[in-house]
Amino acid sequence: MFVLPDLPYAPDALEPTVSRTTMETHWGKHHRTYVEKTNELAAKAGLADQPLEEVVRAAAERRDSEPKLFNNAGQAWNHGFFWESMTPDRAEPSGELAAAVEQAFGGLEKLKARFVDEGVNHFASGWTWIVHRGDQLEVISTHDADTAMVRDCTPILVCDVWEHAYYLDYKQDRKGFLQAWFDSVANWRFAERQLQAARGLGQGWRYPG
Ligand code: FE2
Repeated sequence: MFVLPDLPYAPDALEPTVSRTTMETHWGKHHRTYVEKTNELAAKAGLADQPLEEVVRAAAERRDSEPKLFNNAGQAWNHGFFWESMTPDRAEPSGELAAAVEQAFGGLEKLKARFVDEGVNHFASGWTWIVHRGDQLEVISTHDADTAMVRDCTPILVCDVWEHAYYLDYKQDRKGFLQAWFDSVANWRFAERQLQAARGLGQGWRYPG
């Protein structure tokens, strides 16, 4: 049985960038529903005793013919990663992450411009990611429940660009949400740990349970 993980901060800790109402709805209702459906569908598929990462990978193999398990398991995993990608204790990227950002994008402001542009131009629902592929950072998007976790890369940070992530606080202004998110709540300490894992040092984030 997969669980809805506790948030790593209070539901109002990211205000005003993300309101308490958005957080309670997004975490407490949307994420909870994905977890409940994953439990139901994983049991039917004989995968209930596997870690969520393995369920997502197995479901990805047959997502064209049986999309429901992939959609729910992918969303459960992406949301767990998204909560960790935010923090009320904002700190600038440092050390190896700062160097990797400089190398790939020419600095944090240029990464921000690239990230916001990717998210704004992503059509409809999905996720905007910073990932590590080869020996380089990249910005990519995935559609709907698709996840960088099943790509040939390591997820570093993600922002949810489904309307349910921002509509209560920003209405249709996805750009405003992405800019505020990047400036105020992006969790660069978490990103540094993911980068270390991508380079073979330590374990990357795994869904709790
Ligand atoms: Fe979401």
